[in-house]
Formats: sequence, structure tokens, C-alpha cells
Amino acid sequence: MKTAIIGAGFMGPVHTEALRRLGVYVSGILGVDDKESKRAASVLHLPKAYQSYEQVLQDDVDVIHITTPNKLHYEMAKAALLAGKHVMCEKPLAMNSQESFELVQLAQKTGLIAGVNYNIRFYPLNLEVKSQIKRGQVGDIYSIVGSYVQDWLLWPTDYNWRVLAAEGGALRAVADIGTHWLDLVQTLTGLSVVRVCADLKTVHPIRRRPKGEVETFSGKVQDISADEPIHITTEDCGSIMLKFNNDAIGNLWVSQTTAGRKNCLRYEIAGAKQSLSWNSEQPNDLWIGFREKANEIKMRDPRLLSDEARAFVSFPGGHNEGFPDTFKQCFNAFYSYINADSKSTTPVFPTFGDGHEEIILCEAILKSHLEQKWIQISPSGNRSNPYK
Ligand SMILES: NC(=O)c1ccc[n+]([C@@H]2O[C@H](COP(=O)([O-])OP(=O)(O)OC[C@H]3O[C@@H](n4cnc5c(N)ncnc54)[C@H](O)[C@@H]3O)[C@@H](O)[C@H]2O)c1
Repeated sequence: MKTAIIGAGFMGPVHTEALRRLGVYVSGILGVDDKESKRAASVLHLPKAYQSYEQVLQDDVDVIHITTPNKLHYEMAKAALLAGKHVMCEKPLAMNSQESFELVQLAQKTGLIAGVNYNIRFYPLNLEVKSQIKRGQVGDIYSIVGSYVQDWLLWPTDYNWRVLAAEGGALRAVADIGTHWLDLVQTLTGLSVVRVCADLKTVHPIRRRPKGEVETFSGKVQDISADEPIHITTEDCGSIMLKFNNDAIGNLWVSQTTAGRKNCLRYEIAGAKQSLSWNSEQPNDLWIGFREKANEIKMRDPRLLSDEARAFVSFPGGHNEGFPDTFKQCFNAFYSYINADSKSTTPVFPTFGDGHEEIILCEAILKSHLEQKWIQISPSGNRSNPYK
């Protein structure tokens, strides 16, 4: 297997490192221009600094990883599939559901393997939650609540391409981080969101855009000498009430303007027998709540986990696994599927179908916010349900 990486910002190097840990050969990297490609190839010790996307498509690579800004995902993923390459695309899969549906159909038609990087599924304790729910330990699920909160866009001087609807999409906090949470809880429980009611807020309708680009998450430490005012339409935070297909209710709070919360995804799933709660900032602990006895904290120790979760653990208990490990495990599932003789099992990695369903959800959330009412969702049936 040979792979090429497109995009050399935050995610390009993260993908590269994870692939190398798996022993996948990374042929080279493409940045926005020659300078960025060469710098990234040099820093990451990669053989090739590609000069154009066409050059990548013509190269003898089997897989393309797309880690560019959102607006480029559709065109790049489409061209990759048409060139006969398997694709691992960063989330969100596309800018709207027409684009994402076309990609789902193209992946089916070509028979190529196509994944979207909802990597948070691959924290071992999330896989443990999935396994416990599947085995009936939680019982009928009544409610799923939680949040995904960050602070890197707290100040009006904080800027990144994501704040622009034309670059990242009409929704920002919801699409950028909210879809991680929505993908996660639906994958863990096997349930689908069928109705949403959203209220979103743009805290800073005017931001100061630096003259010159800012790398994701580096804005706080970067010295910005000149900037200009820019009108912002995408949301900084928002609240979404949820109804699931088993009649469970829930809510999601997303924010990129909550001081002190760096990258904090939390959920609490409450069932008839027990509750489960997890926080991405302490990802090696799982809280298990009981009515009739003392609550428990389960540590990520392979000896204490189910077979399903243990398969995605590389280190003994106490040797913490975190964010970079989820990429390794997600890509391991993806490449194992590519190499598998039979494609009849449900993929463990997030597929283009899953990415498409997330965009359908985003569109319903935006409609709900704009119309200030509940919106019914019609799932397209493309989500890869691990419970089937
Ligand atoms: N799964 C996750 O946990 C996670 C985390 C962060 C970002 N992401 C996703 O990854 C994607 C990239 O985000 P990021 O934070 O790395 O952004 P970034 O701005 O840090 O990096 C984007 C890179 O793409 C390059 N680029 C722009 N246009 C290009 C082109 N035409 N050809 C080649 N390269 C081009 C930029 O120069 C930059 O190097 C986004 O879609 C984002 O949603 C996912």
C-alpha cells in the first residue's frame, strides 16, 4: 500500500505519523503551494513534495488522505475515486448533501473504499461503551446528553478559515465539532437522530482577520501585526435538542468560545440499568453510574475491556492512549478493510455513508435554527450501522 497526503497544516502531519506507526508507506505530501509541500516533506522526512493534485492522481499511490479545508473535500475525493484511489477524507465529507450523496454513489460504483475520519470512535473506552450497550448492560436507553466545547475562537481576534462560510460551510461549530459528537453517540448506541431543534449563536459577528493565513490552533501564540474586520455568519456556539429513533431524548451543546475548555467532548448515556459517561480530556477513564450500588470508574486497561474494545488497544493500562492513537486505530480499521478478502462485514471505520448522514443532520440543524422549530430528519439509509 502506498499513500499520499493532501494538506500540510494540522491534520496532514497527524495522518502521516499515524500511518507510519502502522507501517503504511507514505509516498509524499501536497500543500497549498510548492513552498508548503517542500517544507512539509522535509519536516516529515517524506520522499516526495508533490507540485499539484494532478501529479498525485497520476502517481502510483493506492490511497489518498484528504486533509485540506472543507470546501475542497468534494472535488478532491471525487477526482481521487475517478482516478481509482481509495480515499480517507477528513470531516465534514462535503459542503452539502448533494455533494456527499454523489460521493457515496461514486464510492459504491467504483467499489473503492471510502472513509471519513470520525476518529473519536476509536478511543478504546468508547469502543467499550459500544460493546457494553450492545451486550445489553445499559438496558433501554432513555437519554443521551453532552457537549463538545473549545476556547480557541473565544476572542474576536481569533481567526481561521473555518469561520468563513465559503471555506468551511454554512455551519461551523456544529459541523466542525458537533458532528464528531453526533457520529459518536449514534455509533455507540446504534440509534439514529430523527428530529432536531436548534438554537445557534454567533458571539462575534465581526472578527479581525490577520493579513496572511493562520494555522489551525496556532492563533493564540502567533504574532499578528496587521488585520482587517470581517463579517461572520457561522455560529460560535449552539444548543440542539434531539429525538432518537427509539424515542430517547437528548441534547448537544457545542461551543468554540468557552474559556478554559480546550477540546472537551463529553456524553452521558442513561439507560434502564446503568449510565455511562466519558470525557475526551480524560479519555482513559469511563464513569459507570448505578442506582443500587456504588458507581465505578473503569480505567483503560486491556485486561478489563471487552474483546471488541481490546482489539483497538496497543498499550497496557496506565500507559495512556489519546488523540494520536485514535487516528492510528481508525486507519488500521480502514486499511484492514481494504486488504480484507471479503467486504461483506459492516465496516468499523466511518464510511462516506456516515459522512453523508452527518451532513443531512447538519442541514436539518441549520433549517431548525433558521425556522426556530423542530425538523424531522429522513435518514438516507447510508449510515453503516454496526448493530445490524
Ligand atoms: N478528525 C479530527 O479530529 C480533525 C481535527 C482537525 C481538523 N480536521 C479536519 O481536517 C481538515 C483540515 O483541517 P486542519 O485543521 O488541518 O486545517 P489547516 O488549515 O491547519 O490545514 C489545511 C492545509 O491544507 C492546505 N491546503 C489548502 N488548499 C490546498 C490545496 N488546494 N491543495 C493542497 N493543500 C491545500 C493548507 O495550506 C494547509 O496546509 C478540515 O476539514 C477539518 O475539519 C479534523
